[in-house]
Amino acid sequence: MNIEHCKIIELPKINDPRGNLTFIEANRHIPFDIKRVYYLYDVPGGAKRGGHAHKELHQFIIAMSGSFDVLLDDGKDKKRVHLNRSYYGLYVCPMIWRELDNFSSGSVCMVLASHEYDEADYFRDYAKFMRARWKA
Ligand code: TYD
Repeated sequence: MNIEHCKIIELPKINDPRGNLTFIEANRHIPFDIKRVYYLYDVPGGAKRGGHAHKELHQFIIAMSGSFDVLLDDGKDKKRVHLNRSYYGLYVCPMIWRELDNFSSGSVCMVLASHEYDEADYFRDYAKFMRARWKA
């Protein structure tokens, strides 16, 4: 899987004068079962998150509030994606190095994940990630 498999997915949006509503159904709007949800918040200005890849994990990243950038890198190509709406998100397939930066103040980044947390699923070393990438 490479960077072309990572894409912005637009979610259903029920417009309502009382406030809009968006929903996500696993395997319908996003291509995996959701086993875990986590979120980043209170991110100080200038901070960077991520800086790793996952061996098997699929993720869907949404800017629930505010905005930030996701830098994707499959070892060959790189792509910077700006997220700033809660009715779309970025699907990230396995074996993609990602970094998150440019967080606006008060932003909240929610991540839906296909598996429970498992440190063994991480590549935290870019050189090791690249070796595994070129072997595949
Ligand atoms: P990490 O995945 O490196 O954060 P990010 O990619 O957002 O920069 O995780 C940071 C720390 O939090 C690390 O010690 C592992 C822990 N953690 C969990 O315990 N459970 C989780 O679901 C996640 C995502 C992280």
